[in-house]
Amino acid sequence: MRFDVVTLFPAMFAAVVDHGITHRAHQQKLWSLTTWNPRDFVADAHRTIDDRPFGGGPGMVMMAPPLADAVAAVQQAGGGAKVIALAPNGVPLTDARVRRFAMEAESVTLVCGRYEGIDQRFIDACVDEVISIGDFVLSGGEIAAMALIDAVVRQLPGVLKDESSADESFAAGLLDAKHYTRPEQWRDMAVPPVLLSGHHAQIAEWRRHEALRLTARQRPELIDRARAAGQLNPTDERQLRSTI
Ligand SMILES: C[S@@+](CC[C@H](N)C(=O)[O-])C[C@H]1O[C@@H](n2cnc3c(N)ncnc32)[C@H](O)[C@@H]1O
Repeated sequence: MRFDVVTLFPAMFAAVVDHGITHRAHQQKLWSLTTWNPRDFVADAHRTIDDRPFGGGPGMVMMAPPLADAVAAVQQAGGGAKVIALAPNGVPLTDARVRRFAMEAESVTLVCGRYEGIDQRFIDACVDEVISIGDFVLSGGEIAAMALIDAVVRQLPGVLKDESSADESFAAGLLDAKHYTRPEQWRDMAVPPVLLSGHHAQIAEWRRHEALRLTARQRPELIDRARAAGQLNPTDERQLRSTI
């Protein structure tokens, strides 16, 4: 999969290229990243890419022309089939959307805003989708773009062992169960005995129960969604009733 990122801070992307699972997948050429700096698409001596907002107000706004020229350059270089801008007013990113990107998209251009944001005319003319990574405001789109890249790359075929992704939070509509490792006893806390039993069916049942309990407590709306999607069986429903 190919990512092209329009950003004023290309060096930040070392975080996904040089570390962890995304680094390994990058070395295996399962994905690639090219950064494009909008400052390279302006002619003035100060390489200006922002200006004051029309109508007044604090901060600066990123201008449309350098961003449009950067996206055009991506497309000329064969990338950018889908152009995504990162912004808090976008559609919230979900596990389902991440998996769809990993399955369907071969080439995505991510546009990172800074300051007060981006001139709306660029969004209207050049962007297919605006995505938010949560109900909070970051200083720039780079961390949001890296969150999207990281989440998508780990879903690409060959990056994770199949079972690690299938058991994770959201995959089956629920949060993941709790995890434990050695030592068996730490401070005054023991590992739940069933996990030491070696009884695979009982362990799977315990994990399912814990996932249901945790999801019902932390994210009740996910339970409603899983129920509507037919992801809960009669045993799950019984366990949920006994939990409440
Ligand atoms: C300081 S923010 C702009 C906030 C904007 N004035 C607002 O109130 O919605 C600068 C840039 O950070 C990025 N950003 C901030 N929060 C984000 C979020 N939750 N999801 C995705 N991108 C975000 C966007 O690219 C945005 O243009």
